[in-house]
Amino acid sequence: MRLEEILNIKYPFIQGGMAHIATGEFAAAISNAGGLGLIGTGGLSASDLKKQIEICKSKTDKPFGVNILLINPEVEEIAEIVSDYKIPVVTTGAGNPGKYIEKWKESNIKVFPVVSSKALAVRMERLGVDGIIAEGQEAGGHIGELTSMVLIHQIADELSIPVIAAGGIASGKQILAAEVLGAVGVQMGTCLLATNECPVHEKYKDRIIAAKSSQVTVMGRINGLPNRVLKNKMVNEYIEKEKQGATMEELEILTLGSLRKAVHEGDMTNGTIMAGQVVEEVKEKTSVKALFEKLYSDYLLEKKKLCAK
Ligand SMILES: Cc1cc2nc3c(=O)[nH]c(=O)nc-3n(C[C@H](O)[C@H](O)[C@H](O)COP(=O)(O)O)c2cc1C
Repeated sequence: MRLEEILNIKYPFIQGGMAHIATGEFAAAISNAGGLGLIGTGGLSASDLKKQIEICKSKTDKPFGVNILLINPEVEEIAEIVSDYKIPVVTTGAGNPGKYIEKWKESNIKVFPVVSSKALAVRMERLGVDGIIAEGQEAGGHIGELTSMVLIHQIADELSIPVIAAGGIASGKQILAAEVLGAVGVQMGTCLLATNECPVHEKYKDRIIAAKSSQVTVMGRINGLPNRVLKNKMVNEYIEKEKQGATMEELEILTLGSLRKAVHEGDMTNGTIMAGQVVEEVKEKTSVKALFEKLYSDYLLEKKKLCAK
């Protein structure tokens, strides 16, 4: 079954639950354009999540979901809220959502953990999740070790539940490649950052459009929290300090509130500009609707060309 049928959406596209970016309004815009919008809970309190759900519901009658970051200090309350609101889809990140799954299934919620290893995907399938989002290390934000090319193929081969591909997807060809690897649909983050509806600062959008893939790097490789970002003054300094053996406390001085600085204040010097390797594909500001139409028509065209070979 394709993702469109599983989630009752027009296109097989999920918007990644991006912390400080994936608001209720943005999720609604994605769902109205035919994908699945997600409200991100990274940095969100339980009461703010309720507000964002209300906003999302007031702006769309289409299905939407919540991305639960399992390291959120209010995760227990957040896990209850999605059940109370009977949110159609929950995706999870940064850990093992095992203890919540039974309750969510009782509330008829479709559960899709984001994973970066086959071992976790197998454990999740045993716990009865509806599908897996396999995210390769090309992705923007916090990442694992394996590339999409290796990870998606491995997981899709091993599991019998649907697999959604994430990491390094921003063109029709890449959507088709994910399908060939065994995915029923894709989750995207980076290519949505420059859409008109995306609530990041205009300077963030301009930086994304101008960026080359060679300007993308990973900070936090040494302290164990790898984060894919665009290079800037703060990131260069962070990586240099990491190499010199700086403590977490010393490093945190640089990153405290830095995602907010980039997203809300447009600080491109000291802010954390999260973006994936695929950033070079993002060439203009456009509406989500126009982007989805183009991605899907390019995908169909590429599929036709491949079948005709
Ligand atoms: C700016 C940004 C912030 C992100 N924040 C989160 C997050 O809070 N939770 C999460 O599960 N994934 C997060 N991600 C990952 C996305 O959900 C998605 O899986 C990823 O962007 C897909 O790869 P791509 O960037 O190559 O499109 C983030 C990605 C970006 C670009």
